[in-house]
Amino acid sequence: MGIIFGGANSEHEVSCASAMHVLANLDTDLFVGVPLGIDRSGGWHRLASVDDLEGAGEGTRFPDLDGIDVVFPVLHGRFGEDGTVQGLLELAGVPYVGCGVLASALAMDKKLAQRLLEASGVPTIPTHSVTAATADEAPTLAADLGYPLFVKPNRSGSSVGVSQVASPAELDAAIALALEHDTTALIQKAVEGDEVDLGVLQLVNGDLTVGAPLRVVKKGHSAFFDYASKYTEGAVELEVPARIPEEITERLVALARLAFTTLSCDGLARVDFFVGRDGTITLNEVNTLPGLTALSHYPRMWPPVGISYTELLTKLIDRAGV
Ligand code: DAL
Ligand code: MG
Repeated sequence: MGIIFGGANSEHEVSCASAMHVLANLDTDLFVGVPLGIDRSGGWHRLASVDDLEGAGEGTRFPDLDGIDVVFPVLHGRFGEDGTVQGLLELAGVPYVGCGVLASALAMDKKLAQRLLEASGVPTIPTHSVTAATADEAPTLAADLGYPLFVKPNRSGSSVGVSQVASPAELDAAIALALEHDTTALIQKAVEGDEVDLGVLQLVNGDLTVGAPLRVVKKGHSAFFDYASKYTEGAVELEVPARIPEEITERLVALARLAFTTLSCDGLARVDFFVGRDGTITLNEVNTLPGLTALSHYPRMWPPVGISYTELLTKLIDRAGV
């Protein structure tokens, strides 16, 4: 089985950490994991270990898939989570874990995904968008939503390029930063409430299972769950199962399933919500290849419902190519 990791994008390190955690927990009686690394320039390397990617020299333009019967793309963000690698594997005729080309591309494009999710009745964050050509409209659009706001690249992950914007004076810099990471920047209303994430796992027979909801309990002064808080041990407390009313959990589970099917996901997705103090639920985003590191949310949602990380990986691989 090939484990594709790395990638020519801002979540390269996160992907390497995810791949290591996957390889460390794979059922070795069933699978032999072959690390297939993508370096920061997009070159491919068939390796003995994940650590060998750094300094591996020039890679090849395409992966060496010789003898590989199934692939687990442990990639996050552009050129990996966005349908591009999925398309390459479709062409090569190699089954792979997770969402196909369409769902991957849709979920990576937050703006397009929002439109489809709204049309299905999933509440999403009030959002405007600008490009470099329309950036001068940002102050008017931001005023329409009201401060505080978040500005983020349309296609990104792990909060890279995301700014919390408290006042109009901070808007220009936030838009410029977001546009360094994508051609479209989103301006989003800051939604009051806690982040609560739901994991969806599709079994080999097509049934959807939802893991224990996970609530991000913030510590310290920052209300923004940024890159450093995501990947620093102890920066936040992850409460799983989240202590939230049963009725809200039921609505979250139903909305997570609806989001999964609306975007035609397959295999897995992590659906992230905000839950307000008054119980208002707002979908933040759908991640088709959620972080799988030791600190990531998705792997933690399954032990409380009786599925170990090793069993989770086996179920995901069993579903590949169905
Ligand atoms: N984009 C990161 C990897 C996540 O969603 O967990
Ligand atoms: Mg994300």
